[in-house]
Amino acid sequence: MPSLSTYILPTQVVFGVGAIEQLAVWVRRLGVRRPLVVTTGHLAHHPLLGNELQALPAAGAEAVVFDRVRPNPDVALVDEAAAEYRRADCDGLIGFGGGSALDAAKAIGVVVSGVVTNGGGSIRGYEWAREQPIRTAIPPTICIPTTAGSGSEVTLWAVVTDPERRLKFNVGGTALIAPAVALVDPRATLGLSPEMTAATGMDALAHAVECYTCDYAQPITDAVALQGVEIIGRWLVRVVQHGQDLDARTMMSAAATLGGMAYGVESAGAAHAMSQTAGGTREVGHGALTARLLGPVMEFSYPAKPERFARLAQALGVARPGMASLEAARAAARRVTQLADELGIPSMRAMGFREVQIPELGAMAFRDPQTLGNARALTQRDYEDIYRRAFEAG
Ligand SMILES: [Fe+2]
Repeated sequence: MPSLSTYILPTQVVFGVGAIEQLAVWVRRLGVRRPLVVTTGHLAHHPLLGNELQALPAAGAEAVVFDRVRPNPDVALVDEAAAEYRRADCDGLIGFGGGSALDAAKAIGVVVSGVVTNGGGSIRGYEWAREQPIRTAIPPTICIPTTAGSGSEVTLWAVVTDPERRLKFNVGGTALIAPAVALVDPRATLGLSPEMTAATGMDALAHAVECYTCDYAQPITDAVALQGVEIIGRWLVRVVQHGQDLDARTMMSAAATLGGMAYGVESAGAAHAMSQTAGGTREVGHGALTARLLGPVMEFSYPAKPERFARLAQALGVARPGMASLEAARAAARRVTQLADELGIPSMRAMGFREVQIPELGAMAFRDPQTLGNARALTQRDYEDIYRRAFEAG
């Protein structure tokens, strides 16, 4: 039976083709006059964004663009953007991009709002801990995802890279970091390459799978996670092969937001502990890395909760009538590994990792807070074995 749990979704979600056209309306409703647009140099010229920013003056607002977001935003980037926010006298945030841009926007919000109460001018001071360091709500923030992956537009988390400690840390776990509005417009994902579509789609799958099977699972997140897995099982291959299929893009955008709703309140699991650990040691896309690790983690975890994994097999369309739970659970894990191969997710070696790193990575992943609550409890040695299995894949 589920134990006592809380679910919170403070973000208003506007979903569907045309959602982005509501940007000016929401800027005005939120009373923002000078939003900082947080994006990448490449995406700053996205026509969908350009059109909407041009409409802002009529709504009484003028945007300041910060377009220096890099993949896996680090402490220096967030702090630099927060300084720019204060210099330009901004009063709100618009995140436009994948998980990196949206997480950066939320993290910038944490720094600029925290300065008042905490006096801390660096995101480094807001790493999640039992004693929550975030005490003030971020400024009004609108998130517009351009990938169908992170779900960051609805989560209570931002992930920040710390090059000094060579790891990624989590900021959030409180409604104070929630975006006010998510404008989820599938058209914003039409330009994604097949590689990024595959990697980010697998990341969304990981969010749903890890939440459905973890100890924090609760009825509400079960519902959104299962729906997310089912959509991804049905549409991910299609959208990678036919990137201009707006129906497929729409379904994947929905699935990514559902995945975010699943893990956004609590935590993901071992696949994320492992990908954030490895991703802290070298510059690699979070989606591809998580995609490569998810199958091996499921193969380790399924015997602990066979019924849950068997239900995932149904959602993925690989359960056959008469299959025992354990058999179906194994089929779900295998399908996910196979999906990563089918979608051309690179091997860990191709991503630049070496087997000699495994003991160090295993030790660091074991210390990651996402180890707690994974479907099956793991030791440092288990992490090493799973990394080893991931090295053999792809
Ligand atoms: Fe993720």
